[in-house]
Amino acid sequence: MTDYNMLCRQIREMISADRWYVPALSNVSALLMETLPDLNWAGFYLLHEAQLVVGPFQGKPACVHIPVGRGVCGTAVAEDRMIIVPDVHQFPGHIACDSASNAELVIPLHHEGNVVAVMDLDSPVKGRFTDTDASGLKRIAEVMERQIEWMEK
Ligand code: SME
Repeated sequence: MTDYNMLCRQIREMISADRWYVPALSNVSALLMETLPDLNWAGFYLLHEAQLVVGPFQGKPACVHIPVGRGVCGTAVAEDRMIIVPDVHQFPGHIACDSASNAELVIPLHHEGNVVAVMDLDSPVKGRFTDTDASGLKRIAEVMERQIEWMEK
């Protein structure tokens, strides 16, 4: 079982090395992929000019642009809420980047009250994301919102 207290501490420490979003999101995606069991994709999409653009991630190459309102990621932005999909084949409009994905969790990240990015985790295991994962990852998202410098360098 994932120790989210420790993961939160590690992420806070990792981000403190350089708060710019490029190194922060890169290392957090690597840490999530390394630490959470049964993931095939872990990473971030950045909101840029009203659409999502793929950012730092671990896993297979992914679709580059996702319009707001499309797929799980775009729906999470449009509705500004975490979305957990136990079975992506049952989610209308799900965008399949890796055919191995069966479950997905997406959390919007905010800066100054606006969505700036989403965290996106994919798993080959249906029903992979539990309430414990949801609350642990929400805490991680809050750490990231607070600690990361979201501006261009
Ligand atoms: N499945 C996502 C697209 C991104 S990939 O999972 C990396 C979606 O439906 O938004």
